[in-house]
Amino acid sequence: MTSPEGKNKIQFELVDSAPKYSVRHGKTEVITPSDMGFLLKDSDLSKNFEITKVNNSSFDETWEQVWGEKKKIRNHYNQMVVQLQQKSGEKRKLEIQFRAYDDGIAFRYVYPKQNTKDSIFIMDEKTTFNLKEDGKAWWIPAYRENRYEYLYQNSPVSTLDTVHTPLTIESNSGLKLSFHEANLIDFASMTLVNTTGTQLKSDLVPWSDGVKVRVNDTFTSSWRTIQIGEKAGDLIDSYLILNLNDPNKMGKPDYVKSYKYFGIWWGMHIGKYSFWESDIHGASTKNAKEYIDFTAKEGFNHLLIEGWNKGWTPAWYENHMHMFSFTKSTDDFDLEKVVEYGKSKGVELIGYHETGSNLINYMKQIDEGFALYKKLGIHTVKIGHVGSKLNMKESHHGQFGVNYFRYVLKKAAEYDLAVFYHEPIKDTGERRTYPNMLEREAARGQEYNAWSEGNPPSHVVILPFTRMLSGPMEYTPGVLDVEIKQGFPGRRIHGTTAQQLAMYVTFYSPIQMLADLPENYEGVPCYQFLKEVPTNWADTKVINGEIGEYITTVRKDENSADWYLGSMTNEKARDLVIFLSFLDKEATYEAQIYADAAGTDQTHNPQSVAITKKTVKASDIMQLHLGGAGGTAIRFKKI
Ligand code: NOJ
Repeated sequence: MTSPEGKNKIQFELVDSAPKYSVRHGKTEVITPSDMGFLLKDSDLSKNFEITKVNNSSFDETWEQVWGEKKKIRNHYNQMVVQLQQKSGEKRKLEIQFRAYDDGIAFRYVYPKQNTKDSIFIMDEKTTFNLKEDGKAWWIPAYRENRYEYLYQNSPVSTLDTVHTPLTIESNSGLKLSFHEANLIDFASMTLVNTTGTQLKSDLVPWSDGVKVRVNDTFTSSWRTIQIGEKAGDLIDSYLILNLNDPNKMGKPDYVKSYKYFGIWWGMHIGKYSFWESDIHGASTKNAKEYIDFTAKEGFNHLLIEGWNKGWTPAWYENHMHMFSFTKSTDDFDLEKVVEYGKSKGVELIGYHETGSNLINYMKQIDEGFALYKKLGIHTVKIGHVGSKLNMKESHHGQFGVNYFRYVLKKAAEYDLAVFYHEPIKDTGERRTYPNMLEREAARGQEYNAWSEGNPPSHVVILPFTRMLSGPMEYTPGVLDVEIKQGFPGRRIHGTTAQQLAMYVTFYSPIQMLADLPENYEGVPCYQFLKEVPTNWADTKVINGEIGEYITTVRKDENSADWYLGSMTNEKARDLVIFLSFLDKEATYEAQIYADAAGTDQTHNPQSVAITKKTVKASDIMQLHLGGAGGTAIRFKKI
């Protein structure tokens, strides 16, 4: 089966009664015949098959995002559904659904209800991805205690161990590939293990007893996906993961909003405040009121306050069944009063639940905790899961975690709450079905700059091509004081202030934090860009980029005729030529440019941002200069 414009081709066959698939992009073989199926507890569901039916169909529809990087998304594919049945034994049936898109391919397994009496225990998935050729992979390791919070490494596919998805690969012939999964429900998440040569195999994250997936009588796996691009930016311009999720099931509730917000947050990470009750407790009523005043004065409407509740201790982050309360405020914090004060100033609080991964404790209180927020008129909740294992036992990424994160998302909707997760299951496109799923962490964010050796400059130009292919990430950008003067000695951001501005365009999220301390915004001219940059877009284009090197993204505001540009580089200074052909041909724009000042890089005057203005048209070409670990942010204001 080929994709609608014939770019990608999937071939299915039975070889000695075992299902195999292969994938081509144009003339290039991407995946050579590869295994399919499962090993169940009592039977092998990967061989002894015959084909009972094949159904081919096509689909073409354009749907609208409630919020997103692009308003209208085309879902255009050819589908082939292959029904298989085993020739002997219990004659088990298995259906494999394939979809060929012009930006990639996908397949999933459906195990229909059948006459076998046993429950189903999947002990292993047999799917392999036999890459035709080696290539460079950007990967983070699986099965580690900090979950997805690792620096990406770059090495040949042939040398990989077990890695998380999205896994991005640049093949030797130059194709850009991203391996991931979509619509992960009641199943284990897939990691990839190198078994031999350039062969990767699905390695489902197990329960603590070793079983990978347990269900009663039927299952539908998530879609195994391969996005295929010719340029690195093609992977970002692809909406394949969203297209493989079910359409919106909740409409456009009023409480689901896109916005920028401040927080009593960075102060805790840099050691200025504490999460727990102390002389420097961040979440005191007094401090909260000051933050509300600041938020209102600056014209923003949302404030996150962490550490407001009972249960925080100086050892809150250690692996332990911590007992947080989700209803009781600390002695120095009056939640009702703070919410009321916020309302009087037009500032809504964002709720915060740190579970510490003690979900036994959380599940007992979740209804009360959410009901409290609903009563107070709070419409967003950040939920954290610090800890190496959920309940100190199950992986964040196995079937237990997958079900837990979906359960909480649906439960939040019952209380008119939008959510964003930290220490979550990876994103597989849930936001299409449930737009109250705003964003999540699932990678090493800005906070690592506050208290560790930090993220090297390449990290922020790897993320858009890897982690962010799965969905919106909460990186918490916008720290203008990149030297973190009030922080721990030696801790800092390895990038320039102009790069922090650019992140609001290169990193997509429907809600974006302005992470720095209030005093680091006040009176700083480049803060103007952060006041204006939108969080919801009509269109997005990646106009250049190489994984781990640099990226330039342009986005059109949903509510005006303005375009915004963000460009970022790794440690290398760079000069880029930008064709402005994305702008409206009829219009003239004032380009408001925020760039690294001459001589600026991560160690030389990193906070020096040159602000200039220029009148431009779509036929113009612009030159950008990015200092080492620097960036440029531009607002193209239609005049
Ligand atoms: C880790 C999260 O990433 C961070 O945002 C949060 O402040 C702390 N945990 C405390 O919950």
